[in-house]
Amino acid sequence: MDISRSISLHLPSQIEIGKGASAKVGHWAGKGMRIFILAQPITASMVSKLQLSGDVEIFEGIDPEPKDIDLNAAMEAARNFRPDLVVGLGGGSVMDVAKLVAALWNSNQTLDEVVGPNKISGKSSPLALIATTSGTGSESGIRALITNSKTNAKMAVESPFLRADLAVLDPDLTMSLPPAVTAATGVDALAHCVEAFTNINSHPVVDEFARMGMRLAGKFLIRAVQDGADVEARAGMLLASFYGGLCLGPVNTAAGHALAYPLGSHAGLPHGISNAIIFPHVLAFNTPVETAKTKEILNLLGLSECNDQAEVLAQAHSFCTQLGISMSLENYGISSTVLRAWAEEAHGIRRLMDNNPRDMSIDQAEDIYKAAF
Ligand SMILES: NC(=O)c1ccc[n+]([C@@H]2O[C@H](COP(=O)([O-])OP(=O)(O)OC[C@H]3O[C@@H](n4cnc5c(N)ncnc54)[C@H](O)[C@@H]3O)[C@@H](O)[C@H]2O)c1
Ligand SMILES: [Fe+2]
Repeated sequence: MDISRSISLHLPSQIEIGKGASAKVGHWAGKGMRIFILAQPITASMVSKLQLSGDVEIFEGIDPEPKDIDLNAAMEAARNFRPDLVVGLGGGSVMDVAKLVAALWNSNQTLDEVVGPNKISGKSSPLALIATTSGTGSESGIRALITNSKTNAKMAVESPFLRADLAVLDPDLTMSLPPAVTAATGVDALAHCVEAFTNINSHPVVDEFARMGMRLAGKFLIRAVQDGADVEARAGMLLASFYGGLCLGPVNTAAGHALAYPLGSHAGLPHGISNAIIFPHVLAFNTPVETAKTKEILNLLGLSECNDQAEVLAQAHSFCTQLGISMSLENYGISSTVLRAWAEEAHGIRRLMDNNPRDMSIDQAEDIYKAAF
């Protein structure tokens, strides 16, 4: 890996970290602003923590794993309100919609025109992203993922115009996450770090972010699941998620996320659960070509270093089951008859599969689904 290889990083302009950090949003925003807040009912109840003044409108109609129709409704509400500032207060689902609303509400560009990298031509309003889950790291990255309501496929928009002007990592806002969501979103954060670390585009700079994220997840994820009021663990997982988000921009994920996507789009599994089910299998699949890094991942997670694929699989699997995640596709009502079609679909997500350090055939993708069944 060449440390001199060029790389572009897009970081939020300002990052507020720590307990009570959300109270700084009001001062940052200033007085007399028209502030459009995207939220969900559960996160709308946290708006008072932001200490905003001015004319505030809350749009709380964003479903988890948002679709283009959710985005359209939010966009229409923003166009009617004409905000000076857009705030995303929620998990990845809310923050991704907020990013696109801030960029596009006052633009002629449609979603279809901006899917892919670097298609957005400007930004309509400044953007503040306040994370209430610790998983996607959407607040630190420049991507937004929206599901196509006709095809159920995830559409990825990537642009520097999706960068947050303010990102807030306040553990107080994640305390109410139930253990199951904490576990699933936490494995998503971990998967972002692992898949960027073992990626054909991996870069020494991003590897350091990934190491920090994996170390934090290894130390704090189980604690955050077992005791949601453990503020240190919550803060640690928000940082793990943030570092995972930093991995996504310049390097991105690989086969793990490609195999996870059909679970969400066809069976409705939450993004974090999908990733958790797939994670041990892809870690083991990649072990022969990533021997040193696999050992390092296991070490950072507090597991035993090894290069035996079956043992890597068993250890990563037990890491996830200890978090209370049900790791079998069958348990989610999925039929084995769909696995071939899903393998073909995942294999076709070349923007991610091409990043994988070991080439994966359709048969091998199907074998992974069968093993996870
Ligand atoms: N932009 C990116 O780079 C990126 C990366 C990975 C995933 N994503 C996308 O992010 C979405 C998933 O985001 P997520 O995993 O954060 O989940 P989410 O935003 O869908 O939230 C999960 C659930 O937790 C609830 N919730 C959120 N905050 C809560 C809190 N503090 N207390 C209690 N409940 C709370 C939500 O209402 C929801 O029901 C997917 O659409 C995925 O594709 C985006
Ligand atoms: Fe993810």
